[in-house]
Amino acid sequence: MATYLPMLNEVERASIDERQPLPDRYRGLDDEQMDRRIAAARATLGSRLLILGHHYQRDEVIKFADYVGDSFKLSRYCGTRPDAEFVVFCGVHFMAESADVLCAPHQKVILPDLAAGCSMADMAEIDQLEHCWRDLEAMGIDSVIPVTYINSTAAIKAFVGEHGGIVCTSGNAAGVMTWAWGQGERILFLPDQHLGRNTAYKMGVPLDQMVVWDPNEFDGGLAADEALAATLLLWKGHCSVHERFTVQQIALVREQHPGVRVIVHPEVPWDVVQAADDSGSTEYILKQVRESAPGSIWAVGTEVHLVNRLAHEVAPGKTVISLDQLGCLCSTMFRVSPNHLLWILEELVDGRVHNQIVVPEAQQHWVRVALDRMLEVV
Ligand code: 13P
Ligand code: SF4
Repeated sequence: MATYLPMLNEVERASIDERQPLPDRYRGLDDEQMDRRIAAARATLGSRLLILGHHYQRDEVIKFADYVGDSFKLSRYCGTRPDAEFVVFCGVHFMAESADVLCAPHQKVILPDLAAGCSMADMAEIDQLEHCWRDLEAMGIDSVIPVTYINSTAAIKAFVGEHGGIVCTSGNAAGVMTWAWGQGERILFLPDQHLGRNTAYKMGVPLDQMVVWDPNEFDGGLAADEALAATLLLWKGHCSVHERFTVQQIALVREQHPGVRVIVHPEVPWDVVQAADDSGSTEYILKQVRESAPGSIWAVGTEVHLVNRLAHEVAPGKTVISLDQLGCLCSTMFRVSPNHLLWILEELVDGRVHNQIVVPEAQQHWVRVALDRMLEVV
């Protein structure tokens, strides 16, 4: 039965029709065969192809990336390769959406597995944000600048852009928040309460100036005077991967490895950042560990693929371990497999585009405004 897809243009309709699973012939291939075929497809596509990889991708995928980075570096890089007709984004959905907006119109952004989403981005839905905005107005709370973490949907970013707000990443959140407080009295920060709280606290904002807005509660679960007294309204969202890190893990690692330095991503809860020695984006973590003195011991609180790669990369004599002894995996990042990459590339060689990410035209403009503000500010 045909699906009725209202208000979509041809490209958007095509991308939805392509939500097919990985074809059977791409399952069960051995590593050597996949490596050889991926390399061959890459060589055939040449400069028409750009493969981007986020630090949390697995080794079997990241080794084929032309450029690897955190979400800020990747979003800045997108516009620098207009010769690439196909941008294959090995990361998650919201990253590919940002890339689609920042790339030129002739470039096609492809996500190898459309199921590679982000549980945090899913915690802020556009109708919840519209509701929140109306509630804040009704409570008499004005002069609010919305700031959204890049880990959010295009619809959220478009709303933020249209309402005088801005996007941030974990690498530039402090600079962005400084800008936002220059524009209005208070910030509505979404979807990650931890990144918002950790960043503002590091900037010197006391915890009693922050309140949590729960989108599932009437009026966000706040009385008007509580919201009015706050300079930072934190959306009740989080990353289910980074929430696994605990203060107890830090105590244990300090006991087992005297002299260890603990570094965590700012998506971890506030008490964990306080117990750690340092915190920062994935790119920041890599820099600190790489530049540390020989003999240093690090316990790293972020996704396990980054941690393991760093552990193998650092010079002998330096030690890198995961703060979570079971390892902490982002299962949606993990969805992008070499099998998916091979399928996408071989189909491109044959002239077929699958899994293209297209931000609807109605959102493009305001998403771009919100992203451009970020790129100008920091
Ligand atoms: P970075 O901004 O540090 O790349 O992190 C993105 C992310 O999804 C962390 O969970
Ligand atoms: Fe989303 Fe967390 Fe995975 Fe990052 S680690 S992509 S925030 S679910």
